[in-house]
Amino acid sequence: MASRPDQVASTTNGTLTRLKGGSLSGTYLLEAGAYRCVRKTISLEETREYGFIRWQSQLKRLQRFGQLFPGVFPQVLDVGREGPIAYFDLEYIEHAMSGSDFLAGNPPEPEVQAYAQALFETMDKLHAVKRPSCRGALDLYLYEEMERPLRICCEDPSFRAFLDHPTLVFNGVEIPSIATVLPDLYRLGEASWKDPWECYTHGNLTLENTLWVPATRKIWFIDPYEENVTDSVHNEYSQILQSSHARYEICNALPPRVEGNRVSLDIPDVPGIRRFNDLFMVLLGARLSEEEHRLVRLYEISQFTRMLPFKLHTSRERMIFFYALASFLAHQLLEDVHG
Ligand SMILES: Nc1ncnc2c1ncn2[C@@H]1O[C@H](COP(=O)(O)OP(=O)(O)OP(=O)(O)O)[C@@H](O)[C@H]1O
Ligand SMILES: [Mg+2]
Repeated sequence: MASRPDQVASTTNGTLTRLKGGSLSGTYLLEAGAYRCVRKTISLEETREYGFIRWQSQLKRLQRFGQLFPGVFPQVLDVGREGPIAYFDLEYIEHAMSGSDFLAGNPPEPEVQAYAQALFETMDKLHAVKRPSCRGALDLYLYEEMERPLRICCEDPSFRAFLDHPTLVFNGVEIPSIATVLPDLYRLGEASWKDPWECYTHGNLTLENTLWVPATRKIWFIDPYEENVTDSVHNEYSQILQSSHARYEICNALPPRVEGNRVSLDIPDVPGIRRFNDLFMVLLGARLSEEEHRLVRLYEISQFTRMLPFKLHTSRERMIFFYALASFLAHQLLEDVHG
C-alpha cells in the first residue's frame, strides 16, 4: 500500500492538505509561505508496479509534454525524495474543478459546449503527432489490459468463485460473463484494427483527469499515463466514453450490491454528463467509420478490465461491479455486431 499522508506531512516545512485519496499515490496541496503547488507522492518500496512505476511514467509524460504542448499540462516545478517517499510538485491551477465535477453540477448548455469544445481541441493538438503502428499491437494490448488483469484478480478466492458462474445478472439483465467471450473480443479487435497508426495521447483521459476553470473557459490536462501499449485516438476516445457513457466517476462513488451472481447499482441520470456525451457522440459519428467505432467500444470495455487489479486493492465489491459492467458492455457490443 502507498504511504500514509501523515508521514509525508510531518517531514516537510509547509502545510499539506490532501486533495484526493483512494489510489496508490497521494495528491496534496502544499503551501509554504507564498509558495503554493500540488505535490504527488509515492512509496519507493511498496507495490512498485501499480505505484512507483506508474507514478514515474506520469512524471516523465508531464515533463515531455510540458515542453511540446505549453499551456496544456501544469508545469513540473520540483522532483525529489523524502526518505522512502518520492515526490513531484506541479504548478497549482487556481479556481479549477475537475471536468467530471463541473459536468455533474449540471451547468447551462453553453457551458457544457464550451467545456466540450476545449476538450476536443486540446486533445486534437496531441493527436496531430502521428506514427504508423504494428499489426500485433492490439493483440498485445488486449492480453495486457483484458486477459491478464482477470487472471491477477482470480488470485482472490471470492472473485474466482464469482467467475465460476457462466452468466451474471447485471441490473436485472442476465448476460455472459466477459471471461467466457474473450475469444470473440480478440476476433473483433483483429477485424477492426486495420491500417493501424498511433499518436501522442494523454493516456488516461477520463473527465476527472481534466481541470476546468469556468471563469476563463480554460482546460488543463492532469494525470497523463504512459502504459497504454497502443497510443491511439480510439483508445483515448474510449477513456472519455468510460466517463461520459459508462459514467465511471458516478459509479465509482456509489456502493454496488453483489449477491451470488447478481450485481446491481442504481446509476442516476446526470444531465450535464449526458449532454456532454451527446456532443461527444456527434464528434465520433463525424470522425469514425463503423469499424473504428467498434474498436472504440472494445477499448471502452478494456478500461474497466484494466482497472480490476487496482480495485482488488481498494474494494472487492467495486471490482466485481466493474467486472460486471465490462461484461454488460461486451454483451451489448457483441449483440450489435453479431445480432
Ligand atoms: N495542478 C493542479 N492544480 C489544481 N488542482 C489540482 C492540480 N492537480 C490536481 N488537482 C486537484 O486534485 C485532484 C486530484 O488530482 P489527481 O487527479 O492528480 O489525483 P489522483 O487521481 O489521486 O492521481 P492518480 O490518478 O495519479 O493517482 C483533482 O481532481 C483536482 O481537484
Ligand atoms: Mg486523477
